[in-house]
Amino acid sequence: MLRDGPAPFSGRPVTISGLGAYLPEGVVTNDDLSRVLDTSDEWIRQRTGIRERRIAAPGMSASDLGIPAAMGALGDAGILPEQVDLVITATISPDQIMPATASRIAYETGCVNAGAFDVLAGCTGFVYALAMAAGSVASGLCDNVLVVGAEAISRIIDPADRSTAILFGDAAGAALVSPVAKAGGARGILGFDLGNDGACGRCLHVPAGGSRIPASHETVEKHLHFMQMNGAEVYRFATRVVAVSAGRVLERCNLKVEDIDLFVPHQANIRIIDAAAAKLGLAPQKAYTNLQWYGNTSCASIPLCLAEARAEGRLKQGDVALLMGFGAGLTWGACLIEWGH
Ligand code: ACO
Repeated sequence: MLRDGPAPFSGRPVTISGLGAYLPEGVVTNDDLSRVLDTSDEWIRQRTGIRERRIAAPGMSASDLGIPAAMGALGDAGILPEQVDLVITATISPDQIMPATASRIAYETGCVNAGAFDVLAGCTGFVYALAMAAGSVASGLCDNVLVVGAEAISRIIDPADRSTAILFGDAAGAALVSPVAKAGGARGILGFDLGNDGACGRCLHVPAGGSRIPASHETVEKHLHFMQMNGAEVYRFATRVVAVSAGRVLERCNLKVEDIDLFVPHQANIRIIDAAAAKLGLAPQKAYTNLQWYGNTSCASIPLCLAEARAEGRLKQGDVALLMGFGAGLTWGACLIEWGH
């Protein structure tokens, strides 16, 4: 049963004070995929909206992508690495299970005074990590928290599975969370709605390699270390949950759909984004999309969108943005932010 969620954000006002992004150079188009898989550019564009995606060079891991994104966010905020108190990495393709990918990102970026851990919550990871960062800064536990969505997701995709190989791409995006600098400026992060429905855990999962099915010759032979997805179930879930969760966070923050200037959804599928915007009663042009060029970059998709939207002048001081993540778990997370410092 749904209960009332927490009140609108309390504690000292916090905001996203810096953004960074990194994309690997390698481009794989739909035509490239149709040469090795039973698929076509037309099918992929019509069913998903995706035209191409980036794939990291062999040997690159999630942290290799996350490090330049993290440096970009620090530079953008004008904060020294030594001033960061916590590094949280959201990822579904960590460098390894142990240690956390965040530990290497913190080390390589010079965040020598920071704690570091990973959030594992499917493609919702960035919004969850943002919520943990916001809570830490609002409460005074931390002053600056670096949230990095980093994905070398191609490493956990079966190249022979056309139902997933067409969807995903590699990327990283980062956001620095800090107190609002000026009284009377933008209000910053306003509130969250976070949720999970574990009943559909197998709709989107990597079956083996953890403690339930440890790695063995058999698991490798059966491709059980790759992602498996029930696309139709995930599609139904996503189109339903986005509008519900968005409605809850709007109500909690005492805002209306009309107050939203920019909708920044997880970039899974253009049809999911269009359907969710329609259910919400939001004009389609308010939804930001770049999945055409990058595919589904999981935990990197929202910070990557924020960085590009701001660069294009679509996210300005005082704008209200609705960030919406959803993914494996099945999990979801919505965040409202009044953009600015
Ligand atoms: N190329 C050509 N044909 C294909 C492909 C492909 N790549 N994939 C499937 N097909 C075929 C199917 O076999 C099926 O054929 P059939 O009718 O002969 O049986 C037909 O196309 C239709 O397949 P559907 O699965 O019904 O296609 P649908 O329109 O549902 O689109 C898709 C599939 C794109 C995966 C869609 O269900 C979707 O986007 N789901 C959500 C996925 C998602 O968002 N996942 C990430 C969540 S975030 C995270 O945490 C990782």
